[in-house]
Amino acid sequence: MAELSIDDLMYRPGLMQGQRILITGGGTGLGKVMAEACLILGAEVYICGRRGGVVEAAAKDLTDAHGGKCVGLACDIRVPAAIEEMIATVWADGGPLTGLVNNAAGNFISRTEDLSARGFDAISNIVFRGSFFVSQACGKRWLADGKHASVVSILTTWVWIGGPFTVPSAMSKAGLNVMTQSLAVEWGNRGIRFNAIAPGPFPTEGAWARLNPGAGTESEKKDPTIPLGRNGEMRELANLAVYLLDPGSAYVNGQTIAIDGGSHLQGGGGFARLSGWGDAEWEAARSSIQSANEKDRAQRTV
Ligand code: HXC
Ligand code: NAP
Repeated sequence: MAELSIDDLMYRPGLMQGQRILITGGGTGLGKVMAEACLILGAEVYICGRRGGVVEAAAKDLTDAHGGKCVGLACDIRVPAAIEEMIATVWADGGPLTGLVNNAAGNFISRTEDLSARGFDAISNIVFRGSFFVSQACGKRWLADGKHASVVSILTTWVWIGGPFTVPSAMSKAGLNVMTQSLAVEWGNRGIRFNAIAPGPFPTEGAWARLNPGAGTESEKKDPTIPLGRNGEMRELANLAVYLLDPGSAYVNGQTIAIDGGSHLQGGGGFARLSGWGDAEWEAARSSIQSANEKDRAQRTV
């Protein structure tokens, strides 16, 4: 379902006309809503994910609601050759991208002592490695073509406060935080900006199935543990992403901006509270997460 209208956005219609944006993992959750905002504002949008049917349905859903051009591409960003192929397709389809959102991710809560090597790799190969190779594939072309561009990576506040029970994700996101700072300098003098967003909780099906297994996303608007008393709204995240993608923010470079209601400043936003869980709770969580993983895996086309 399409989620936004122009009234949810802070910007004038047509702001992103002429821009071409790729959003990894753009078929669901936060990626889809950022894709929608860019599309509403006139950008051409590409979204990718491993479930070809999901990205194609999302692209259709968004263009049915708003018109414009949104293309769904099946791609597994764990595979550098697949990334190269996708980026070549995008460039051939209408010229250079003007922006990239590194949004695709994998995650699940687990005691660190229970993680297998495959479990660690399942997360870090998407977040840490995959996001780097997508950024590099775009960056090489931007540098060769002498084009300006904006890269926005979706991190978490764990890059500052750590992420107990989500260590492979926190480590990988922290790596992307350093990539953001490093490439902001290395490529900034050639017009390629790198910034990042560190969201607090925005209830999505994908995240909740793996971080709050068993809890639905519907009843999750209020949260008294957050200074502002609630979780984030999709349009709030979308407005911040558009700001960082658009040349209107041209002097912002190398920054990671939290959008979490102030949660991390009071030590919130992580899973330290799970320290009280015993084996039974962890077994139930793992089984619930693995059924979500299996359901999604059955839909993958790459
Ligand atoms: C321990 C687990 C596990 C769990 C999986 N594994 N779930 N280990 N506890 N709950 C282990 C498996 O046993 C296996 O290891 C290994 O991980 C790989 O599992 P697969 O299911 O084969 O992995 P794969 O098909 O590659 O799927 C990747 C995935 C999956 C990351 C595990 O969750 C996924 O595709 N996720 C994409 C969507 C997603 O995660 N969205 C949430 C993003 S939210 P063994 O050794 O047994 O073979 C987010 C929020 C951050 O990032 C901030 C919030 C505030
Ligand atoms: P989500 O809906 O599960 O989004 C993750 C997306 O990544 C899915 O569309 C998934 O599609 C895609 N993806 C995963 N592995 C991929 C791969 N190898 N190749 C290509 N695409 C891949 O979860 P979300 O909540 O919207 O999360 C979006 C981003 O926000 C993530 O970076 C997450 O860490 C971050 N974040 C979320 C929250 C929150 O509260 N929701 C908070 C902080 C940060 P496929 O499975 O089809 O590949």
